[in-house]
Formats: sequence, structure tokens, C-alpha cells
Amino acid sequence: MTEQAILKALRNVEDPELKKDIVSLGFVAKIQIDGAAVTVELSVPPPARPSRVELKRDCEKRVREVPGVSAVRIELQTDVIGPRPVSPRLEILKGVRYTIAVASGKGGVGKSTVTANLSAALAKSGLRVGLLDCDVYGPSIPLMFGLTGRTPEVGEGETLCPIEAHGVRVMSIGFLSNDKSPVIWRGPMVHQMIQQFLTRVAWGELDFLMLDLPPGTGDTQLTLTQTARLSGAVIVTTPQEVSIVDARKGLKMFETVRVPVVGVIENMSSFSCPHCGEVSEIFSRGGAQKLCREAGVPLLGEIPIDPKLVETGDNGTPIVIAHPESETSKKYLKIAEALRTQMESQTVSSQDEPVHIQWRTKRK
Ligand SMILES: Nc1ncnc2c1ncn2[C@@H]1O[C@H](COP(=O)(O)OP(=O)(O)OP(=O)(O)O)[C@@H](O)[C@H]1O
Ligand SMILES: [Mg+2]
Repeated sequence: MTEQAILKALRNVEDPELKKDIVSLGFVAKIQIDGAAVTVELSVPPPARPSRVELKRDCEKRVREVPGVSAVRIELQTDVIGPRPVSPRLEILKGVRYTIAVASGKGGVGKSTVTANLSAALAKSGLRVGLLDCDVYGPSIPLMFGLTGRTPEVGEGETLCPIEAHGVRVMSIGFLSNDKSPVIWRGPMVHQMIQQFLTRVAWGELDFLMLDLPPGTGDTQLTLTQTARLSGAVIVTTPQEVSIVDARKGLKMFETVRVPVVGVIENMSSFSCPHCGEVSEIFSRGGAQKLCREAGVPLLGEIPIDPKLVETGDNGTPIVIAHPESETSKKYLKIAEALRTQMESQTVSSQDEPVHIQWRTKRK
């Protein structure tokens, strides 16, 4: 009796609502074989549905039918989030240790700039980093990494090979579509494209896979959280209330889908005049700190307004590579370190243990 045989048997179990087998759905988190005894851990994403019981029973029956099996235990987890390794679903992103979504409520607050620089900063510190540009509507990452016009190679098993730049393995819809002709993306198309990116890209082994999201709480966010087990989300906001209000909605959304928010980054925090050195808080101040206090999540850092960020973004070299000694780069390196520490300090080793980043949002 082998793990493969058990998996094969589990492929016959269909989720009654999703109408797909539980292996393809990524529900099988772990299979343990001890002599003739088999334990299967199922990780079924919330919400908890009545059909779970049926699912469990069906699994037990199928595993029992495998020759050589005498005892079966099915453990069902519905509320767990982010165990370590954080993407335990067997077939999706299995070589990735931490999958981090970089999100915001409002558009244009600097998510892509943050994702690009954080990815490059993590890679600089010796980690294996991938960056998936999930913004099918307006991919910015090819430009920010100097990869415009490049086309990825097709690898083994019809997978797409990411393109490496500045130490980061990059994949983007921008590599696959001509950016002169706008594509009208609809919900199901977005869903399909994101799923392809998660399942058919040859990422290899990665410490961090950073996901650059489009703004808001739309189809992309939904597909991502349904398809892969995200280790955490980083929320980017600017300091003013109009951005904070939307960031709060983003935070809530991740709470609902049980993705832990690792922290908030305040972008465009202040502006230091290059001539007189005076610091101006152009977009107000303290907004992100207040949001963090409310939600009980850490403020990972504040990035000032820096014209060099625009220049380096447009030129295809993240500031942490182009100007490593600049104050902004140092801030990015610190944030990357804080993110890494946050993730590594989570010592949950099995899904039985309690969740490591918990929500402490005040509720009325
Ligand atoms: N701290 C900063 N200082 C100055 N300019 C910045 C800063 N952060 C981002 N920018 C600039 O702001 C613009 C928008 O940034 P970016 O594309 O990263 O935002 P976004 O949140 O990803 O946008 P979208 O919602 O459209 O995906 C870019 O021109 C970028 O160079
Ligand atoms: Mg963007």
C-alpha cells in the first residue's frame, strides 16, 4: 500500500457542492501510513458546510477499499489557516514555502512598486523568490523588472517557465498578451488565468512567492484564496483616510477567507524636500498606524514619497538594486526582514496546532 494508491482512491471522492474530486481541489493536506493504518488529513476551506460529514464518510469508505488497509482515520480541518509549510495542498505551489499576497483597497497606492522592491530585497538576502503578477487588467511587473516584450519559454509538461530578473523569478500576463491591444477580462477568464498561473508555472523551489494583486476585492482575490492556500497578506495603503477606508475593506476580506494579514505597509508616508530637507506629510499621517491598532496587525514599515521610485520603476530596476544605499532602499530591506521574521516565527508544524496569526479585529 502506498501514498499514491491512497491518493488514487481519494480521487474518487467528489465534493458534493463543488462537483470536483477532492484531490484536484487540493483538499488532501497529508497522508500518513503506519503499517496497515492510514490517516488522511483533509483541509477543507471555510465556510464549514454540512456536506463535510458526507465527504469524510466517503473518504473513509474509499480508503478502506485499498488493499492492505485495515484502519482508517480521516481528520477534517475547516478552520485552519497557514500551517507550515504554508501551502500544504498537495498539488498547488508545493515547492513554495510562503505565498504572500500584496493587496490594497484603493488602486495606485503603490502595490506593484512595493511588491517589486520587497521581492528584490528578499532575493538580495539570499532567499529564493518568485513574483506572480496577478493584475490581469494592468500588469506593471514586466516594466518594473525590465522585462517588457519578453516571452516565457515552455517547459516540461507544458508548464511556463518564469523569467528571472534581479534575482527574482517573474511571471505575468504581460508576457503573454500584447499590451497594445486591451483584453476584456471577465470573471471566468480571470479565474482560469489565475488558476493556470498557480498550477502551470514551473516555479521550482521557492522561499517566497509574492503575488501582486489588482486593487480591491474582486475576482482575482476570490480565485486566489479558493485555489491556493495563501500564507499571508500584506496590505499597502497611503496615509489618507480615503485609502485607509478601502484598506480596511481589504483587511476584512482576508479575514473572511481566513488568510492571515501579516502586516500593513504605509506607502507615500511623507516627503523630504531634496533642497531644504523639510519633511512634509503630504497625504496626512498616522492612518496606517491607526488601522493596525484597530486590526491588531503590525505596521511593517513606512515608505516615503521618493521620485527615485518612479524613475527606477519606469526603468526596470527596483530601487533596492539601483540605489541600494538610499534611505528608501534601507526601509525596504527592513520591511523584507520584518516580513521574513514574521513568517519564520510561526512555529506551527501541523494542522492540529492552533493558528499562528490570529485576528484581533475589534467587533461591535
Ligand atoms: N513611495 C513612492 N514615492 C513616489 N512614487 C511612488 C511611490 N510608490 C509608488 N509610486 C509611484 O506611483 C505610481 C503607482 O504605483 P504602483 O503602480 O506601484 O501602484 P499600484 O497600487 O500597483 O497601482 P494599481 O492599483 O494600478 O495596480 C507609479 O508611478 C509608482 O512609481
Ligand atoms: Mg499594480
